[in-house]
Amino acid sequence: MKTFADISVSGKKILVRCDLDVAMEDGAVREDFRLKAMIPTIETLTNEGAKVIILGHLGRPEKMGDPEFTLEPVIKRLAELLQKEITFVADWFTNPEAVNTASDNSPIIALENLRYDPREEDDDHEFSKILAQFGEIYVNEAFATAHRAHASTVGITAYLPSYLGLRHAQEIEVLLGVRENPSRPLVMIMGGGKAETKIPLVSGMSKYADTILVGGKLMFAKELEGIKGVRFPVDANRIDDIGPKTVEHFKKYIDGANMIVWNGPVGKYEDEAFRYGTQAVAEIVAQSTAQKIIGGGDTVAALDLFGMLDKMDFVSTGGGAMLELLAYGTLPVHQAIAENQSD
Ligand code: 3PG
Repeated sequence: MKTFADISVSGKKILVRCDLDVAMEDGAVREDFRLKAMIPTIETLTNEGAKVIILGHLGRPEKMGDPEFTLEPVIKRLAELLQKEITFVADWFTNPEAVNTASDNSPIIALENLRYDPREEDDDHEFSKILAQFGEIYVNEAFATAHRAHASTVGITAYLPSYLGLRHAQEIEVLLGVRENPSRPLVMIMGGGKAETKIPLVSGMSKYADTILVGGKLMFAKELEGIKGVRFPVDANRIDDIGPKTVEHFKKYIDGANMIVWNGPVGKYEDEAFRYGTQAVAEIVAQSTAQKIIGGGDTVAALDLFGMLDKMDFVSTGGGAMLELLAYGTLPVHQAIAENQSD
């Protein structure tokens, strides 16, 4: 799959689907890791004389205009990080012409939360067409949303030449490298919530992982018993964390690894009473000389809290997207872009 670096973008209007779904607190951005990751793409496009039109979503709003989900503060933070002005088009749903006017007059503009309109998540092709009319080329720099077949991620590729963003291409290279060419032993650590969603993904990973250490809600998943490589906690009481015996048990595998992939805290680390396991595992991982790849909003936040994020070799911007790519080897957005490029 090609990135936009393979084509000439000068003077063109480029629609860039970004990962703007970040953690918020009191109406401001709490965690800007995903925003930082998209900066090289936006800077490269503007430096090459392209006009950038940023598309994205925040959360899962249920009604048009719900102020809790406005992208305005996210775009404000992105503008600070870029040290460039971004014109925010809040009213584009009712006044689509405002998008063209804004992009004629400003090098970078951003549209209000696409998910205010249910047609986004329905992958409605009329909605994709409206978006496509705003630009000449489509760039997907939203790896964290690449497992969703929505109007701005998949549908739109039917209407514009489509390319990957720089960071998105790197995510694919690193994560497919884990699947296709892992340094062995490959040890995966899987935790967090949403066990029902993760159970089939763990089965997919078991096809190539040497060991999968499970914590979080997955430690109660009977469906994983007997799956090759899966190791459960060994403490007598499993509640909201793993205990010291499990930490010792898991340490043997982690110490012997040449590649470690971690997505999902092993306990409810945000509550100090249940932080022990995640912090202990983080310390063991940080000390390892293996290649260390982590992802998922909670895992990133936990390692950040422990001051260990910079000990990791690669921090994925994806949560669910990282897990699905590791489990299945492709995502709906990748298939759509690959098809678009073979036209
Ligand atoms: C994410 O944060 O994982 C993505 O933005 C996807 O969000 P979703 O699960 O609401 O589709």
